[in-house]
Amino acid sequence: RKRIRVRQIAQAKAEGRRISALTSYDCMTARIFDEAGIDLLLVGDSAANVVFGANTTLSITVDELVPLARAVAQAAPHCLVVADLPFGSYEAGPDQALATSIRFMKESGVQAVKLEGGVRSEAMIRKVVDAGIPVVGHIGFTPQSEHGLGGHVIQGRGAAAKQLMEDALAVERAGAFAVVLEMVPASVAAEVTKALTIPTIGIGAGAECDGQILVWQDAFGLNNGRLPKFVRQFAQVHEVLRNAASEYREAVADGSFPNTAESYPDIAPTV
Ligand code: KIV
Ligand code: NA
Repeated sequence: RKRIRVRQIAQAKAEGRRISALTSYDCMTARIFDEAGIDLLLVGDSAANVVFGANTTLSITVDELVPLARAVAQAAPHCLVVADLPFGSYEAGPDQALATSIRFMKESGVQAVKLEGGVRSEAMIRKVVDAGIPVVGHIGFTPQSEHGLGGHVIQGRGAAAKQLMEDALAVERAGAFAVVLEMVPASVAAEVTKALTIPTIGIGAGAECDGQILVWQDAFGLNNGRLPKFVRQFAQVHEVLRNAASEYREAVADGSFPNTAESYPDIAPTV
């Protein structure tokens, strides 16, 4: 199995194969998700929330995200690895977007970058793509602008569907190879998916997208806090780890760990 490339992601849409994507922020999960055959791994700025404990994604910096992206890119030889451009690292204009993208490509070894915004980000996407760096767009609910959007609000409902479609077409026109649709009505996501030649990757955007993405801590239950409606829990990793930690604590407390086999004898046994 060779590394999935942008071309295969595009082919998946043409051939009607759905694209599976997950977030990852470290080498261990990257290796597991790669083994499982996931197509695309996103080193998301959601690391601000699920790694660093912040309430929004706004605080994470390029310096913080680059090492996580490097860990994922090194550990996932088959997935297409994409890094998010953090808030504040591309909005100033195409030159800033390109400079930040080049940092991720050089310092982390990812194969693509993702940035938020449709029409408003068209020039930035084009500049990065023209430099030979594949770009994923991200429209609908864009977490980096949650203060401007007034919180976690569903986008593209009713009359707003027209703007969402314009954003999608702008992202495609700018040369992005895929676009994330976040928190939009399933019917609107279906329309956008039909209108675009590039694949749509949905999160809270219904089943008609060309692929799906979830934050792994939500999808696999490491996070046992309140979850959005669109998350399905495929595992309860929180329980697994909590039980393991309390078993460990008990084994330490009652002296049953470590046993003889887990200890070194004074003289090495002869083989
Ligand atoms: O940062 C992130 O995790 C994301 C997605 C879930 C699309 O942008
Ligand atoms: Na993100």
